[in-house]
Amino acid sequence: MYNDKVMDHFMNPRNVGEIQDADGAGQVGNPVCGDVMRITIRVEDGKIADIKFRTFGCGAAIATSSMVTELVKGLTLDEAMEVSNKAVAEALGGLPAQKMHCSNLAADALHKAIEDYRAKHPANSGA
Ligand code: FES
Repeated sequence: MYNDKVMDHFMNPRNVGEIQDADGAGQVGNPVCGDVMRITIRVEDGKIADIKFRTFGCGAAIATSSMVTELVKGLTLDEAMEVSNKAVAEALGGLPAQKMHCSNLAADALHKAIEDYRAKHPANSGA
């Protein structure tokens, strides 16, 4: 039921792990199923220099986590804030309808990590 791209990101997820001493961290739980995703970022010159994720969830959640890390690496914080859950699902070539709720974690956790960074670095919030 998953396309090849989703399966690739599920079987070979990119940027798995946790950045030690991260500049920002965001964690979200999916109210539909209880799965949890955590994203940590390192910020340099207002851009996402590094990003890692840990997802305790289904295959679609792992694939969307992996995809969002690839999509935003190197983007400015403002650009990364504009990446939506829908954009992540589209970048994966779509998800089965009953799995669309799984894509809600990826961008939300990213946005929380950026908000966390901005709260900790108010003078350097990276436009
Ligand atoms: Fe929980 Fe997919 S079933 S994120």
